[in-house]
Amino acid sequence: MSYFADKGPLVADIFSRYPASPQGRRSALMPLLREVQDAEGFVSEGRMAEIAALCGTTATEVRSVMSFYSTYHTVPTGQYHLQVCSTLMCALAGSDELWDELVHELDVQPGEVSPDGRFSVQKVECLGSCGTAPMMQINDEGYYENVTRSKCHRLLAELCQGRKPAPDNPVPVTVLDDGRQLL
Ligand code: FES
Repeated sequence: MSYFADKGPLVADIFSRYPASPQGRRSALMPLLREVQDAEGFVSEGRMAEIAALCGTTATEVRSVMSFYSTYHTVPTGQYHLQVCSTLMCALAGSDELWDELVHELDVQPGEVSPDGRFSVQKVECLGSCGTAPMMQINDEGYYENVTRSKCHRLLAELCQGRKPAPDNPVPVTVLDDGRQLL
């Protein structure tokens, strides 16, 4: 079933933020992706095709945009999506060991969701907080800094009990005039 079929006002609102030109229509691609991902947790091939048709482009271009941003997912993610920075500063500070620990403890590989639906893992590029390496992000909501092995165990213990620990550094949220929030 089409995601946007019954969301005409929402689609019109998104397109109204951009020039009424072919380029303007393509600019709406990212907010449309965000809309689907927030609702469904990932963007399937079918949704990519739907967004491509709305924007007057191809599903290949939509996939290409998604591949540039680790925040978009083409496969389902768990309730807690753990993203470990694997760029140089974090690698030097031990992110490879952190990654091995996570994969071992959770018994989940990239692209999979743990059987209980709680966890998925992903290596990502620099999260922009190299001074607090190694860095981890949980969902898109916050940064966990200087994640040593013992800190990793503490975080996992809380998550396993259904509690999401407060991040060391929340991702800033921009609130628009109409109340909508942008991450
Ligand atoms: Fe990991 Fe920059 S290298 S946050």
